[in-house]
Amino acid sequence: MKVLIVGGGAREHALAWKLRRDDPSLELIAAPGNPGIAELARCEPIAATDIAALARLAHQERVDVTVVGPEGPLDAGLVDHFRAQALPVFGPTRSAARIETSKSWAKSLMARAGVPTATARFFSDTAAAKAAARQLGAPVVIKATGLAAGKGVVVALTLAEADDAIEMMLDRRAFGDAGAELLVEEFMTGEELSIFALTDGTHVVPMIAAQDHKRVGEGETGPNTGGMGAYAPVSVATQATADLALDRVFLPTLAAMRADGCPFTGLLYAGLMMTPTGPKVVEFNCRFGDPETEAILPLLDSSLLEPMRAIAAGDSLAGAPALAWKNAAAVTTVVAAGGYPGTVKSGDAITLPAPRDGVTVFHAGTTRDASGALVTLGGRVLAVTAVAETLADAQRASAGYAADVQFAGRQFRRDIGWRDLQRASSASRA
Ligand code: AMP
Ligand code: GLY
Repeated sequence: MKVLIVGGGAREHALAWKLRRDDPSLELIAAPGNPGIAELARCEPIAATDIAALARLAHQERVDVTVVGPEGPLDAGLVDHFRAQALPVFGPTRSAARIETSKSWAKSLMARAGVPTATARFFSDTAAAKAAARQLGAPVVIKATGLAAGKGVVVALTLAEADDAIEMMLDRRAFGDAGAELLVEEFMTGEELSIFALTDGTHVVPMIAAQDHKRVGEGETGPNTGGMGAYAPVSVATQATADLALDRVFLPTLAAMRADGCPFTGLLYAGLMMTPTGPKVVEFNCRFGDPETEAILPLLDSSLLEPMRAIAAGDSLAGAPALAWKNAAAVTTVVAAGGYPGTVKSGDAITLPAPRDGVTVFHAGTTRDASGALVTLGGRVLAVTAVAETLADAQRASAGYAADVQFAGRQFRRDIGWRDLQRASSASRA
């Protein structure tokens, strides 16, 4: 079997790593891939959004399944293009990807489907947006409605902060056209969970929940990032929570999308907040989360390749077995460049410690310079996952390895998984 992975970050590295374990004889191609993926796959220098070139490659190579990592190519219509050429592909069509790419479309879908989420209104006018923020009162959430790499959300604690965010998006176009329209949203409180589900559009094979750490600093301080780390499983994600997520979020959302004529196939990501009145959707994503994938996949014992192949082939997941998970904990610590999530420098030499048992290093933003040396390329550089019997051991091993990674200005959080560790220590004191 031959698989093409589209993308070149740590999520795609984790997908390549898992698919290779599922079938050691698998032929893997990645476009564009990265130096970490290159140890598992043949990398082709084709951009993830160059859909025509990717389709040519898939034809030439007789690829059995193309797996799309990032949202960009999905939004650009990769799946529509591949399906029109009868190329099996894992991921949603462009119109189904709107569940992530258009927050306004996602909100109205949730309203139609009766899926619990924060109330929100949409504005492209600065004064009207500011007035709505005053109506809701602080804290209030301001979001760019288009794609902004996880950075288009401001949780404003005061109305002055809300005004700043509104001006930044609408007047100063800090996120370009992604911020031409914004959403003023009710502030919710509660713990966040990321739950992924594989789906053929109707049936769902859920994964275990993970928790992302979006703030750059330890103890959830500083600005939001694309994610500084993740862990799985999460103790608040009980079976009852998983059942609620299935019955109140995934199934009604998929049914509403089928009814709208844009069934969702691939991996649907629900970002949930466990509010005092039950789980509510913060956002949907139309693809695997990053860095949650790097924490979840190393815990997956059963095959990912088989359900992915089935979904790409258009087969039904009815009767598909539930996934089997290790009885262990995983912590992923992201090692980022200095200055991230602001402007960062690239091209700094990276020195990796020797491999360690239970630790897997996924490459996020790395490349090779002219002499072949591994150097940084962008904000998030590496995702270091440790799997251990306990969360505390996994955190220790993950942060310990991250601390031994060397490159100029590197930063990482030592506290990934802190909420569950805090819960465990207060439970043991009780
Ligand atoms: P998003 O990109 O929509 O996932 O938002 C990024 C982060 O902002 C989320 O993970 C939350 O931590 C926070 N956030 C988003 N929406 C809300 C909300 N309505 N209430 C409180 N926090 C929110
Ligand atoms: N971890 C958040 C995301 O993938 O969007």
